[in-house]
Amino acid sequence: KKADNQLLVIFGASGDLTRRKLMPSLFELYVRGLLPKRFAILGASRSEYTDDTFRQQQREGIRRSAKGASYDDGQIDEFLRMIHYVSFEPTEYATYGNLKNRIGELLETLGSPDRVVYYLATPPVLYETIPAGLKEAGLNVAATKKGWRRIVVEKPFGTDLESARRLSELLRGVFEENGIYRIDHYLGKETVQNILVLRFSNGIFEPLWNRNYIDYVEISATETLGVENRGPYYESAGALRDMIQNHLLQLMAFVAMEPPAVFEPEPIRNEIVKVFRAIRRYTPAEIGRNVLRAQYTGCEIDGQYVPGYREEKNVAPDSTTETFVAMKLFIDNWRWGGVPFLFHTGKRLSKKQSEVVIHFKSTPTQLFSGQCSGRSCNKLTLRIQPDESISLKFGLKMPGAGLSVRQVSMDFRYDSLSSDYLPDAYERLLLDVMLGDSTLYARRDSLEASWQFIDPILRAWKQNPQRGLLTYPVLTEGPDPQQLLEDGNDRPDENCTLDESIFQ
Ligand code: BG6
Repeated sequence: KKADNQLLVIFGASGDLTRRKLMPSLFELYVRGLLPKRFAILGASRSEYTDDTFRQQQREGIRRSAKGASYDDGQIDEFLRMIHYVSFEPTEYATYGNLKNRIGELLETLGSPDRVVYYLATPPVLYETIPAGLKEAGLNVAATKKGWRRIVVEKPFGTDLESARRLSELLRGVFEENGIYRIDHYLGKETVQNILVLRFSNGIFEPLWNRNYIDYVEISATETLGVENRGPYYESAGALRDMIQNHLLQLMAFVAMEPPAVFEPEPIRNEIVKVFRAIRRYTPAEIGRNVLRAQYTGCEIDGQYVPGYREEKNVAPDSTTETFVAMKLFIDNWRWGGVPFLFHTGKRLSKKQSEVVIHFKSTPTQLFSGQCSGRSCNKLTLRIQPDESISLKFGLKMPGAGLSVRQVSMDFRYDSLSSDYLPDAYERLLLDVMLGDSTLYARRDSLEASWQFIDPILRAWKQNPQRGLLTYPVLTEGPDPQQLLEDGNDRPDENCTLDESIFQ
């Protein structure tokens, strides 16, 4: 399906996200013939660029992106012709007049489609200012019945429950709820979407996909990079807000949700919010037992010093911001009661890798020598990135006399598919907003439910910024999340004792 003719306005156009992600993805959509027939992009930001200088800058970004490198200049030039630029000062309402004129002109050149997507790729401090300015300038509503205005908001969507609610209220006062798209780029990843397909298009997994057969579920996203030049943002965010509140919880929702009756945005989002609402909220005492946080410290690697978090640019020398979080959480519903979900994420760890691992329960007794026992005998690993793959681990008889067993695995790799095209998350998500499909965007209620779980943890840490803050040397594995499984608190049902009196 092709999206209707429209204009895309990107605020924060001179920033990193635009250059590294949005433009290369739009270019890829262009090359694949997926953009609307008549389409234009208007970049808006404070910098004083002309259309030409802005295009040059984007050309660099496309060239440097993984896919852009394989295209010739001619193709890039054709794409760049769709791009325009307007300098714009978000806090000065007068400049919205300028913006309005440019939008008007561009819509006219597209045959006046009256359809505009606004993309907020700006620092979050502008999330309130720009929508308010758009409203004041009358840029938030379509002029015709067939027209629409949509807005895409990048994370962080609020810094706690209260600010998330305030922001939602504010946006709701400017745009229709179904015109607000809260982006979580993890949901745009092919392999993440495949979690739903794997679960709901195969008969073999779903019967096992519950507390009776699953021991625990591990969800992780580790990175080798540090905070780069995002010190000011990261200082106020930390790993809990930066990765867990959004990406890891969304991954968990896909793993844990019930099958929707139909594969449409609202039924799917209804199932997601049910998962979030069932997450057990921790008391301060439980937080200490179930959540670990840590920060990376500098050390010399191969003769070169790699700075610790507190030595990074724009980071306080006594910062207590966590760069690593491991946590165990529970979804208190019939499918998942008592099954721990073990998360971990961190910066400057030894590898960049995101995956979901379903650990199945082991056999009740051991019949063979070498047979795996305890946790993690049979596990299904969904590797989100890199080396996207799915593998199932099981015990196999070793050839020869006797019956000795070894763990082997059955593997599927995405790169074995005949098409080597694995679209970037932003390609999928940008196309979806153009098409008006919100399935892979976070809905207000699930976002608020996720903050309800996160807020008490943030409060507990704020009260005791130092307590329990561990450290790990850069480019190591960080604290072991498995230790959270060891305290025995995760099996409330096993602690039950039978009340004999009922038989008397
Ligand atoms: C972003 C975070 O949302 O996700 C970054 O703000 C993080 O800190 C990034 O590096 C990780 O995304 P990916 O797709 O590289 O796993």
